[in-house]
Amino acid sequence: MANQEDNLFKNVISHAKEYGFIFPSSEIYDGLSAVYDYGQNGVELKNNIKEYWWKFMTLLHDNIVGIDAAIFMHPTTWKASGHVDAFSDPMLDNKDSKKRYRADVLIEDAIAKLEEKIEKEVEKAAKRFGDTFDREKFTGTNPRVLEFKQKISDTNARLKTAIGGADMVALKQIIIDLDITDPVSGTKNWTDVRQFNLMFSTEMGSVADDANKIYLRPETAQGIFVNFLNVQKTSRMKIPFGIAQIGKAFRNEIVARQFIFRMREFEQMEMQFFVKPGEEMKWYEFWKDKRMKWHQALGLGNENYRFHDHLNLAHYANAACDIQFHFPMGFKELEGIHSRTDFDLKNHEKYSGKKLQYFDSEDNRNYIPYVVETSVGLDRMFLSILSKSYTEEKLEDGSDRVVLRIPVPLAPIKVAILPLMKKDGLPEKAKEIMNELKFDLRCFYEEKDAIGKRYRRQDAIGTPYCITIDHQTLEDNTVTIRDRDTMKQERVKIGDIRMQMIEACSINNLLRKI
Ligand code: GAP
Repeated sequence: MANQEDNLFKNVISHAKEYGFIFPSSEIYDGLSAVYDYGQNGVELKNNIKEYWWKFMTLLHDNIVGIDAAIFMHPTTWKASGHVDAFSDPMLDNKDSKKRYRADVLIEDAIAKLEEKIEKEVEKAAKRFGDTFDREKFTGTNPRVLEFKQKISDTNARLKTAIGGADMVALKQIIIDLDITDPVSGTKNWTDVRQFNLMFSTEMGSVADDANKIYLRPETAQGIFVNFLNVQKTSRMKIPFGIAQIGKAFRNEIVARQFIFRMREFEQMEMQFFVKPGEEMKWYEFWKDKRMKWHQALGLGNENYRFHDHLNLAHYANAACDIQFHFPMGFKELEGIHSRTDFDLKNHEKYSGKKLQYFDSEDNRNYIPYVVETSVGLDRMFLSILSKSYTEEKLEDGSDRVVLRIPVPLAPIKVAILPLMKKDGLPEKAKEIMNELKFDLRCFYEEKDAIGKRYRRQDAIGTPYCITIDHQTLEDNTVTIRDRDTMKQERVKIGDIRMQMIEACSINNLLRKI
């Protein structure tokens, strides 16, 4: 991470703690690695993200319904889903730094460096040739670029074979051949690559033997798969249809770092879309487009999102991509979109002995549907919004301010109600306004400290509007409304505040833009 971005990330993390967004879990005992608690402002932002997702999925698509499945599931679920045998990461340690890395991530990073080298060659040539530069011709003929391209394609092919065959020796060999060094120690003193299963387990009941071993779900999706027929039959939905769910998932991440980006306990917002076999690619493209639009409607900058196709497909997928976001540590996965074939339902049918087929009355036949899944991490959504909204500003008068430019409908507090002074009937008038607004909008009342200081505190938690009640209010029933981003104030009649604020802060209006 470049130094400037590194500092920005550190500032975001300390700001999140100082202003009640995120605390380390059980902090008084020095915390628990990769586990976090959401504070009073954090939980509001999180709930608003959930609402934005839930409404988009289940209100705007009349063929999608939601469920809330239990975290604990029958242990055979995880055998059928492939998680017992295949949900592991290939890891290796650097003997000098004692740091542990995912082998495939080290290789992918090395590939990304080769891609950067190609870009550098292109930039240099573009400068040299000026207007006559032809990128396509250059990248198709320049010997250095061709050499890099060949190395990338060879490495990708080897990586795919090694992952597909769970060949740990081959993975280690790629790392040796690419001369990959540990970013911390700078050495190539690697251990062998070994598989680590990521599922947490515990015992159910009082006897701690293997038969009672159950897992904390590593994805919410399986709760949807095992309920597929329950939902289909009770809702009488016809294919194509979807089931949505928001809930906790747990993974014993070996390399757990980067704040809430990679956690051991986190939340997912997942949707499984059940389609006719053979139509999955059409729906895969459909959901890629829909999900990208949902993200971009937040207004954090379209350039901060991009698709990244998976070359190494998970055990259940026949196509998969990520929506990546430009986090402080670079472009990283925010959401996964996967065409999961009939892998899960077919295996649940096999392991449970129960039929999980859909009767298609148009085709007059039974089949196991194919599934296209959209899966976004709630905590990663939170981090994307927090990190992009965090802004340090120098104002015209030379002072500094930190402002969270959170998309208005998602802001934890929508309106701060601030009597200019603590006397002359101003607090009473302010409370009257608060009592009118609090049914529709999360409001915050404060009368302590100078008004400027109070504005800064609201900027720091991203409150989009501050309503100030002053002496003129008592004369003409108007207040000032200060805009967080422009810091401009306008005078508004008390009778108009409610509708103006509801209009500006509505998640539904945000959804209308998609
Ligand atoms: N059901 C498919 C599935 O779970 P995934 O790509 O492993 O796919 C989906 O996870 C999303 O869940 C990721 O894009 C990410 O946003 C989030 N996620 C996964 N592991 C996470 C972790 N350890 N901490 C926070 N979020 C995580």
